Amino acid sequence: MTEADPLPQSMLLAPADTGKSVIGSATSRIEAHLKVTGAARYGSDEYGGSNPAHAYLRTSSIARGRVVHIDETEARKVPGVLAILTHANVGDRIKPGKTFSDKGYMGSSIAPLASDRIAHAGQIVALVVADSYEAARDAAQRLDIAYAEEVPSATFGSPGLMEGLANPKPQGQGNDAADENPKVGDAAGAFASAAVKVDQRYATPTQHHNPIELFTTACAWSGNKLTVWEPSQNMYGFNYGLADQLGIPADDIHTLSPLVGGAFGSRGSLTQRTAIVALAAKMVGRPVRLECTRADGFTIATYRAETQHRVRLGARHDGKLTALIHEGWEISSRPDDYKVAGTDASTRLYACPNVDSHVTIVHADRNTPGFMRAPPETPYLFALESAMDELAHALKMDPVELRRVNDTQTEPIRGLPYTSRALMPCFDVGAAAFGWSKRDPAPGSMRDGDWLIGWGCASTMYPTQVAPAAARVTLSPSGRVTVQTATHEIGQGVMTVIALTAADRLGVPVAHVTVEIGDSKLPPAPVSGGSNSTASVCNVVAKACGDIRARLAIAAVRAKTGPLAGVDPATVMLVDGQLASADGKSEPLANALRRLGGGAVEAYAENVPHGVPPDGVQGLYKGKGALAGGAKLKDRIQFAFGAHFIEVRVHRLTREVRAPRVVGAFTAGRIMNPKTAKSQLMGGQIWGISAALHEATEIDRRTARYYNVDLAEYLVPVNADIGTIETIILPETDTQVNDLGIKGIGELGNVGLNAATANAVFHATGVRVRELPVRIEKILV
Ligand code: MOS
Repeated sequence: MTEADPLPQSMLLAPADTGKSVIGSATSRIEAHLKVTGAARYGSDEYGGSNPAHAYLRTSSIARGRVVHIDETEARKVPGVLAILTHANVGDRIKPGKTFSDKGYMGSSIAPLASDRIAHAGQIVALVVADSYEAARDAAQRLDIAYAEEVPSATFGSPGLMEGLANPKPQGQGNDAADENPKVGDAAGAFASAAVKVDQRYATPTQHHNPIELFTTACAWSGNKLTVWEPSQNMYGFNYGLADQLGIPADDIHTLSPLVGGAFGSRGSLTQRTAIVALAAKMVGRPVRLECTRADGFTIATYRAETQHRVRLGARHDGKLTALIHEGWEISSRPDDYKVAGTDASTRLYACPNVDSHVTIVHADRNTPGFMRAPPETPYLFALESAMDELAHALKMDPVELRRVNDTQTEPIRGLPYTSRALMPCFDVGAAAFGWSKRDPAPGSMRDGDWLIGWGCASTMYPTQVAPAAARVTLSPSGRVTVQTATHEIGQGVMTVIALTAADRLGVPVAHVTVEIGDSKLPPAPVSGGSNSTASVCNVVAKACGDIRARLAIAAVRAKTGPLAGVDPATVMLVDGQLASADGKSEPLANALRRLGGGAVEAYAENVPHGVPPDGVQGLYKGKGALAGGAKLKDRIQFAFGAHFIEVRVHRLTREVRAPRVVGAFTAGRIMNPKTAKSQLMGGQIWGISAALHEATEIDRRTARYYNVDLAEYLVPVNADIGTIETIILPETDTQVNDLGIKGIGELGNVGLNAATANAVFHATGVRVRELPVRIEKILV
């Protein structure tokens, strides 16, 4: 082997079996100090330069129709107004942009300032730019807008809806290769002849992400080059999508998305606001910064679609499922076919020989919905896991035992083995921690004074997704490491797991690793969605570190002299600032680096997961949509699993519902950092309780306008809503999902807890709530 020979893959990927692994050690997030001292910079902290202008949106008060006239007279009188952008002066200066299903990057194809058409309430109708935020706001409110209004279709049950079959091109999250409408066997026949049956309808409401950091955009031009600061969880998609819309090369755009103050899917797709702000900055010849209001966030970005379900379960008297039929209906906009089609997951949770499923898009006069934490699984497992509880009740069987009877190591549709599945160990450990064996199954049987006690459970599952990624790692003679990759710190702790990976593989302290992310000029990383960042990014960082280690090792063992001369390079590791062999020989890192030229050594690595055509990671992200390469294994199926247990207390008279304690037990392959993993799962659990009991966006059926568009009326949980939370992570080794064995945990914590909570309410009261959220009026008896 010579210097020019490619390094063997086995050396790049070999685990650093040094006995000192820092991967998996509970580590505080490396940016924690910045965050708690207020020094952390978020995208919204950036104004684009020293002399920014400020933008304010005016949005449509009607949901369907057109703008007839905009009188700007009064607005123009406001001192400091610089520009007013409407359909009259924007038109085709911004291209509409393509949605994910068209290999684009937009969340919605509705192009607000392209014409006079209004497709949904709250659509952007004008952007006013002024010297100050206050002037822009004042002028925007003084625009006198005349509309020609048509009667809108708001939601399910509204007149004038358009019901379409699900488009053959899936547009949901991470399901490039999704099976459409999974089916096997004769579900209708098996259901007809089943000994025990459940046939029920369920519904979940519209929800909005409401990240604390508002939707902001700052744009600054320097000649033909554009710099954009915007909180994003998909800056590569953002760069390509914005380039399409503005008709400029993607290389001329530099996107910066430093620490992100919450995303949850809302920043995975490009919104129409960005190109409008970029155009405004060009028009006024100054940087322009837009800060959308909290209310704007409900209509200018995406949201979780309202869904309806019919679930039919057939079973034998011993609980074995014989038939599972899951039909779903999802609200979308008029032009777009966004759907999450969670039957892909809900038909793969339990063994069942006869399965059928169908998903229908219902087009209404709404903005296009989009990704929101576990987009498919959250609504579809609410329906399935509620129906399973109803089946357990009908069978007079313990709900945990019903799941045990139907547990499987191969998925039922194509008979593929799971790479690993530990659902029942999660139920067993969770049940023990919760004290489930003390449950009296009869509804309404457990009480504490005036409080009716209910205990409920449900499963969670989330697919493991890995996407193409690249990283550059630099190791300096002083033992300092820099890792660069264009991923996003959305609060999940990705910077810390990257630092742990590099520290582990290069034998340096975590504090010596600098992690650079959030910049589109860095090596590409995928959308931080689908719980894929840790798996996608850490594997490629490990690969780049392995390259450095292999180069140092080979140079050291080939040296004529030196402590490692002649040693087998595969046994040489970097540990504690030393290059060391398994048999105890070592030399300081700085000496080893001298052999490669003396300065820092740099490695660039790409990772292209199974089944993705290897045309380079950059190429993969260009023109392939944000979801490029959510590749699935052909012969196996990969999911993380878990079990939820919750206690609710319902007041006998007022029917107020409290949730004093919850236990979740999860398995998700290798856990890179138990500390941040636990807090991420805990956040999901809190969201699950909240989604069951509080959270919904309300729509006025006559006007198709949302009316609880602020954090006073859109209920998110506060500390008083949440009792004790136990989060248990069971060890699991999965050698098939990816080299490091990471499954991902971002979305696992909340899936299914909505159903567990409604199941607990049934156990407390005997009232089954099939339409979320559970509210007092639904359980009055
Ligand atoms: Mo998420 S909805 O995968 O950001």
